[in-house]
Amino acid sequence: MRKPVMAGNWKMNCNNDEAKELADGVVARGGQVEDALVILCPPATALTTVNDSIKNSNVKLGAQNMFWEQSGAYTGELSADMLLSCGCEYVIIGHSERRGRFGSVDEEDAEALAAIFGDTDETVNRKVVAALAAGLKPIICCGELLSERQAGSTDDVVASQVKAALEGVSEADAANVIIAYEPVWAIGTGEVCDADEANRVCGMVRGVVAEVFNEDVADSMQILYGGSVKPNNVEGLMEQEHIDGGLVGGASLDAESFGTLIAVAADSAK
Ligand code: 13P
Repeated sequence: MRKPVMAGNWKMNCNNDEAKELADGVVARGGQVEDALVILCPPATALTTVNDSIKNSNVKLGAQNMFWEQSGAYTGELSADMLLSCGCEYVIIGHSERRGRFGSVDEEDAEALAAIFGDTDETVNRKVVAALAAGLKPIICCGELLSERQAGSTDDVVASQVKAALEGVSEADAANVIIAYEPVWAIGTGEVCDADEANRVCGMVRGVVAEVFNEDVADSMQILYGGSVKPNNVEGLMEQEHIDGGLVGGASLDAESFGTLIAVAADSAK
């Protein structure tokens, strides 16, 4: 039985005052929930603030990114050890907003210009391996662009992202991995992926995990869906066999909405 997960990716939102208010609100609504794993991933500047808010609750802390080296001349980067020292247990790796495949500094479109951070399958893999070696649990993101879906290559794209991310990961370490399927076209657009289709792709991802490791690892791995998860669509998603939870952006920025998502996730365990 896989424990349902509800993870909030706050992205670049919340200064420290706002982070405290939001984290306190989440703790008040879902802090004592035991049937679901609740993870908050605030921006790095608010990790210690949120860690303080969640200290007497069951809520866990995650970061949104990390670098694979342990220390050194990498201006602006954060190591696994630094994240651990802020109280993190989890780290999101390879979010589509950090993958470099649809941005270029030549772009005029603001959204494309923002997507220049440059993670590739290879850097995602390095980060995953470094996170696990340090004792952080990676939430590995995968997902296809709209153009890739339209070209019928969703499964190929997602499967190759997952295989690349897991390269060199041991079976023992795989027990600490969470995978999030986030179709890029469904993120922040309000356009949720149909629950049956999200389940099909999450099932396909589980098959890839079985191929890389074995059926036992695949059966116990938590696979999340992300992309416009809201209180009004979460039940249909959580009912699905292969969807073990949500990685939530927009709806995690409101304590009441996120509290509802936590409650639905916890109910799905029964
Ligand atoms: P939204 O829930 O805002 O679509 O964001 C999803 C996401 O990218 C979570 O990582």
